[in-house]
Amino acid sequence: MSDEIQLVTHVENIRYDKEGEALFIIDQTLLPGEEREIQTCSLEQMLDAIGKLRIRGAPAIGIYAGFCMYVLARQIQETEPAAFYARLEELGDALVACRPTAVNLSWAVKKQLGTAREHLQEDRPRLLEALYQGAVEIQRDDQDKCTRISEYGLTLLQEGDGVLTHCNAGPLATSHYGTAPGPLLLAAERGMKLRVFADETRPLLQGARLTAYELQRAGVDVTLICDNMASIVMKNGWVQACFVGCDRVAANGDAANKIGTSGVAILAKHYGIPFYVLGPTSTIDMACRSGEQIRIEERDPEEIKRLWYEKPMAPADVKCYNPAFDVTDHSLITAIVTEKGICRPPYTASLPALFDNKE
Ligand code: MRU
Repeated sequence: MSDEIQLVTHVENIRYDKEGEALFIIDQTLLPGEEREIQTCSLEQMLDAIGKLRIRGAPAIGIYAGFCMYVLARQIQETEPAAFYARLEELGDALVACRPTAVNLSWAVKKQLGTAREHLQEDRPRLLEALYQGAVEIQRDDQDKCTRISEYGLTLLQEGDGVLTHCNAGPLATSHYGTAPGPLLLAAERGMKLRVFADETRPLLQGARLTAYELQRAGVDVTLICDNMASIVMKNGWVQACFVGCDRVAANGDAANKIGTSGVAILAKHYGIPFYVLGPTSTIDMACRSGEQIRIEERDPEEIKRLWYEKPMAPADVKCYNPAFDVTDHSLITAIVTEKGICRPPYTASLPALFDNKE
């Protein structure tokens, strides 16, 4: 099979065609100009898709990794169970190494490895079917979680409120509704009027390219601003709440999200505006004590110097620092909204309670 990505058109962000045994994603790098679906078959294509942010957003890369594990398992030649498992683990490690900050990626890979271990002694078709069902389950579960997060998030808003959001945590970054934009989409469905300010989100422009696109299509009143305009819209009194997603939440409530998020939180504190982080419990990493332990992905300087520009907009050899995420200190976060409810400080008490099995 060729390593070149095959191009086809469709609309769901991650779609597995069981009959044709093919994994499709919407190539988010082409949005909003073009909504195009691409097929990814080999490990190289999958690493390219995740690394180049063709598929992105913490829950979406988790869902995608679930299906990748199934697709890759189908290609494993080793027949002996231990050798099969060792190879699957190796492939999973390669996927995880691609983007280190979002915990959902490693969470999904671990989940699929667990499923493989459970069914390792069964015949190959049964083992593969279990991995397929595992991937479908991760996707369905995310749809359900996004709906619940959106419902909880909506309870924090009132008719006419202005909401500022950063990056993209909507349907493209998840499976359905999304996290931070979920309540905004739900509000639109229910005829509730809100005014949304979407930060453009330099350097990859997820806010401009994806959030503005998703919200506008859903009929939400959205105004696009540059990242450095957040302060003035807050000062003008146009923002009653900030809603952002997350890539990894530490046990103390520190939350990693797209670069620039912590600046928004600092501004929100200055202007007395509540700052909410929305995400599924699969994004909470209780093994990570604080934000200090979260590894921040650093990306290619070319994203700052020339991507999206017709001509390079910086001296070719200028030194650049391009961290993809930053960590918002828990003291700046008013609440963390999950599918299990709204957690308030102190997070060292409210976050562990989410995992208490008592529901
Ligand atoms: O680098 P990206 O575009 O994958 O970063 C995405 C974000 O930071 C999102 O806010 C986060 O993943 C939450 S998506 C529900």
